[in-house]
Amino acid sequence: MKHLVVYAHPNPESLNHAILETTVNALKKKGHEVVVRDLYALDFQPVLKPEDFVGIRSGQTPADILAEQKYITDAEVVTFIYPIWWTGLPAIIKGYVDRVFAYGFAYAYGANGIDKLLAGKKGFIINTHGTPNEYYDQIGMTAGLKITSDTGIFDFTGIEAVDHLLFGGISAADPEALKEILVQVEEKVTSLF
Ligand SMILES: Cc1cc2nc3c(=O)[nH]c(=O)nc-3n(C[C@H](O)[C@H](O)[C@H](O)COP(=O)(O)O)c2cc1C
Repeated sequence: MKHLVVYAHPNPESLNHAILETTVNALKKKGHEVVVRDLYALDFQPVLKPEDFVGIRSGQTPADILAEQKYITDAEVVTFIYPIWWTGLPAIIKGYVDRVFAYGFAYAYGANGIDKLLAGKKGFIINTHGTPNEYYDQIGMTAGLKITSDTGIFDFTGIEAVDHLLFGGISAADPEALKEILVQVEEKVTSLF
């Protein structure tokens, strides 16, 4: 299958970077084609500006948005890898969604409501966060994090969310626990695709 992995973390020494490497290696081991868009490395411009609106509405989508849209069009599976920052997506990947999942490309308003223009693709998300999973489960945050991305972004545009891994308690995790996370990532990626 053709995979697009959209990755957002500023630090190549981070756990998220290790998760990225583990994911890509597991996919390649199974013979999948993988394209990685490392948003910090690309210095992706995440702010949806007035000229973007004008361009998108007039059929003159800015070149950097068009380039990212082409990667999505070519992919059968779209995977997002990012840490939870302020209970949501880091600004660079939130801005990627704002600009790239644009009206007319990812969704449109049709005669019967929303046209889901990315239907047929699968979506997968891997997140890490500092707060323990048990606490986020208990206060409804885990459910909130899932619904805003799996339903609010993926399902809204027709992408079928096949799984969403959230690894919590990272701030207090020891090296063994971090290694175990990578094992779980490899197992999940290998079994899903
Ligand atoms: C700007 C910022 C905001 C953060 N917000 C949250 C948060 O809302 N909830 C949480 O549990 N952890 C939060 N964290 C902790 C990160 O999620 C955690 O450090 C990260 O997932 C660990 O993975 P890494 O080593 O790859 O960065 C935040 C960290 C930063 C830098």
